[in-house]
Amino acid sequence: MKRLLCLAASAASHVTAGSASSSIHRREPYEVFKFLGRIPGLGGNEAQQQIGSSGVNIPLEVWRKGGTDLQWAGEITVGTPPRSFKVIFDTGSPYLLLPQNNCTTCSAQKSLFNPSLSSTFSPTPGLSLQLFFGTAGGGTVPTNIFQGANCTAVTDTVSVSSPPPITGTSQQFLLCDYYSSGLAAQPADGIFGLAPTPTGLWPDLATNTTLEFETAYWNWITKNDGLGPEFGFYLGGDRPQLTIGGTDTNLYYTSKLRSRTISLDVQLSTMRSGWVAGLRSVGLGNGFLLSNTSSPVLDDVALLDTGSAIILTPDFATAAEVYNILSPQIGPLDDLGSWGGPCEVVDNIATTQEISFTVGTGERAVEVGLVKGAFNLGVFDERRPGICQAVFVSPVETAREPIKGRLAWVLGTPVLKGYYTVWDGKAMEVGFGELRSGTGKGRKYAKGKRHGKGKGWGKGRGRGVWGL
Ligand SMILES: *[C@@H]1O[C@H](CO)[C@@H](O)[C@H](O)[C@H]1NC(C)=O
Ligand SMILES: *[C@@H]1O[C@H](CO)[C@@H](O)[C@H](O)[C@H]1NC(C)=O
Ligand SMILES: *[C@@H]1O[C@H](CO)[C@@H](O)[C@H](O)[C@H]1NC(C)=O
Ligand SMILES: *[C@@H]1O[C@H](CO)[C@@H](O)[C@H](O)[C@H]1NC(C)=O
Repeated sequence: MKRLLCLAASAASHVTAGSASSSIHRREPYEVFKFLGRIPGLGGNEAQQQIGSSGVNIPLEVWRKGGTDLQWAGEITVGTPPRSFKVIFDTGSPYLLLPQNNCTTCSAQKSLFNPSLSSTFSPTPGLSLQLFFGTAGGGTVPTNIFQGANCTAVTDTVSVSSPPPITGTSQQFLLCDYYSSGLAAQPADGIFGLAPTPTGLWPDLATNTTLEFETAYWNWITKNDGLGPEFGFYLGGDRPQLTIGGTDTNLYYTSKLRSRTISLDVQLSTMRSGWVAGLRSVGLGNGFLLSNTSSPVLDDVALLDTGSAIILTPDFATAAEVYNILSPQIGPLDDLGSWGGPCEVVDNIATTQEISFTVGTGERAVEVGLVKGAFNLGVFDERRPGICQAVFVSPVETAREPIKGRLAWVLGTPVLKGYYTVWDGKAMEVGFGELRSGTGKGRKYAKGKRHGKGKGWGKGRGRGVWGL
């Protein structure tokens, strides 16, 4: 995750270890090796581990700026007695990260964790970690400095109170006493990583080793009977929701899900803790957006990231190629990877063009579309009200996956919010469920009316868009 943009870059770092340099995300070969094929058996009823089962619903709140959906947060509780926190549910990162009560920079966070008020708190394992989020693209917060957090790995109970309750005792997470400006300015208290693998690693820099821990999501799944391994995201419409341990079958056509489910690149996903799928083509209407007409089939990969409010291309050249075809009036807006042009041009593309991505591999590839209107991220800089940012952002460094060196994209919420997405970290699959009519599809986004004539792109929007 990369906080709006910042957060997007760190998502990319799971795939690339490139643009976001984090001691955590840069895994040494021996760490990678330990991850191979490690999907421990899970408890629970096999029948419930089928896509389409029910689970526990967590309502989500959207953080919008200037009409653009940036982040989705929901409530968890931590400690005894339980204390509530709003966290961004982020498929692009593995860690649960919360602000500590002595964080002096956590200005927008409403809830800070006080260890002395929880009877179940333990300061172990006590490792200090400095997290960095990359800086691809401009952000809502106008800063070019790197973003990060200083944290310590600690242990407490992490729960969801919405009925029925889910409880995960002895959960290791990161308690942070420093959020850099971008992270501190977002309204959510923390980040809840939903990486697919059950096991996470803390790097112990003092001894050059790593410590394993169970990620918070898998702790819930293993400690609460009746929950399947999958979770379901509904990010569109007026009442977005995350379902833990199942899916909400009221929101999508379950019978069609199987044919719209892709297998992940298991090797990459298990090793790099990311939901990484093959990316076979990028389409425009009935043709291809990437101009290699002799072979429009790509051999790229894409991280599917609920924490990114953008599409991150693997490099500058790819973004240039895409925008060359869409409009010569769109160009780079800064040296951080933001692209855009006259608002009417960006908006025209947003409302008239159909941009799609073929994700998955071989026989299990599925075409998914950019949500209508989502191409336009809104006014880039209040001082230049006629210039809008477009959805493709390029990274500062070329992003490649570490095994075969394939180019790595990040497909964020501009694509994911058009579907009911089902994420199964046991089968290593992601399904793109068709939304039931009335759940928002074809209503809210069909006409692009949010983007009409520069209205609605609010003041105070700042430049760029951050993605987690
Ligand atoms: C916050 O408290 C922890 C102990 O809980 C301490 O290690 C850390 O240095 C403190 N941070 C600040 C910024 O005071
Ligand atoms: C964050 O941690 C690093 C490394 O320990 C340290 O150099 C830096 O001063 C810390 N920043 C803050 C604001 O505490
Ligand atoms: C850890 O590894 C790095 C690079 O391999 C090395 O430079 C450093 O001395 C090692 N530190 C310890 C404590 O072994
Ligand atoms: C087009 O794709 C083919 C096959 O993947 C590749 O060999 C060729 O270099 C590509 N051409 C361009 C201009 O990217």
